[in-house]
Amino acid sequence: MMTLDKRLQEQNESISDRLHHLIPGGCHTYSKGDDQFPENAPHAISHGKGAEVWDLEQNRFIDCSMGLTAVSIGHGYEPVAKAVAESAYLGTNFQRPALLELEAAEIFLDTVQSGDMVKFAKNGSTVTTAAVKLARAYTNKNKVALAKEHNFFSFDDWFIASTACDFGVEPGAAELSVKFSYNDLASVEQLFADPDHDIACLIMEPTKFDPPTDDFLNKVGDICRANGVVYILDEMVSGFKWHIKGAQHHFNVEPDLSTWGKGMANGFSACALTGKREIMELGGVRNSGERKLFLISSTHGAESTGLAAMIETIRQFEQHDMFADNWRRGQILQDGLRKIIAQKNMTAYLQVLGDPCLFVVNCLNHDLKVDSNFRTLLLQEMIRRNILFQGLFYPTWSHNDAIIHEILEAFDASLNVYAEALDNQSTSRLLIGEAAKPVFRKFI
Ligand SMILES: Cc1ncc(COP(=O)(O)O)c(C=O)c1O
Repeated sequence: MMTLDKRLQEQNESISDRLHHLIPGGCHTYSKGDDQFPENAPHAISHGKGAEVWDLEQNRFIDCSMGLTAVSIGHGYEPVAKAVAESAYLGTNFQRPALLELEAAEIFLDTVQSGDMVKFAKNGSTVTTAAVKLARAYTNKNKVALAKEHNFFSFDDWFIASTACDFGVEPGAAELSVKFSYNDLASVEQLFADPDHDIACLIMEPTKFDPPTDDFLNKVGDICRANGVVYILDEMVSGFKWHIKGAQHHFNVEPDLSTWGKGMANGFSACALTGKREIMELGGVRNSGERKLFLISSTHGAESTGLAAMIETIRQFEQHDMFADNWRRGQILQDGLRKIIAQKNMTAYLQVLGDPCLFVVNCLNHDLKVDSNFRTLLLQEMIRRNILFQGLFYPTWSHNDAIIHEILEAFDASLNVYAEALDNQSTSRLLIGEAAKPVFRKFI
């Protein structure tokens, strides 16, 4: 009889060929690609419910990262799906603004953001790019300061030119970015050593897997204000994890502009740019005689199903106090993982990093070095036990006690294989196929 691993492998090969034949990259986000997973990962998903997904052979997996953390309540969550269906029957796109756009703006600014204005869009890259454009117009400067530890802000040239994937970008784009280090105030101060600097804005995520230290976020805000620079916090990931008002509320900091996306519509497409009226209004058309800035202008930007999903997602989060509950579930999971690691005397090799609402497992090898072979081996062993794991845990309302228990059991068993690799000082004979590769790399 064919083993599950073998069957998955054969099924994957044909699906993968068809995907890559028709779609460059085989998917629509590089971080979902084949080269990001071990060979035994399902190459396509047929459907999902709650925290579970099924591959094309109807093998069930527990989902740990929920659509790059966009699915904040659960797959196919009925109240949100119903709100979407209802809005679809009322029409999705009109020749004038829909009333829903106003309702969405009021709810978003009341509940999520205390900013003055909001512009919705379908993708995160659209809103971060719009934030940079506003900053350039507001300051009459050109450069963007980026936190070098934060690996993604947009697929547009202003950011991609600063990565190893600079093939095809506009010539000169790379010269328009400068970098600083998160939690390193001196590196931020250094950017402004020259009073004639050409920096329009500074952008970073409020937190990733390390919290801000020594009031870093507010101190950066002070430096931005002192140097006439627009301060942008990208809450694309953190926004719907730390608090309904974002990580900026959790860490008590107020940027000039903020960008939002993943999670705000339980996987439907809704992103937002918010901020101070003085800057946002540059994209308006009511100040006659002033220069017109072409901000976000997009046919599908305010299409109704995404906004309806967003409104219902916000309502559900509030009604069930989901943020507090996600932290609670995440804490149980973190404690469980740490306990297993400690029981197996592997604390030097596996680190659980981040707050309970979103965290990663960092994988080190026998020499205590971060190692993608070891990381891929852990992913492989979790997937072998039906846990679709990419190194990240995003606990949601759907990750109930039984699901958490299953994850912990699989983790316990997977670490036995990891321990074998540590003993062997190698993953060879244990890792099938190649290690996952970095998304941002010069060559394929
Ligand atoms: C911090 C951050 N900003 C912006 C983006 C871009 O969002 P999108 O993929 O919706 O364009 C991402 C996506 O991963 C992100 O993680």
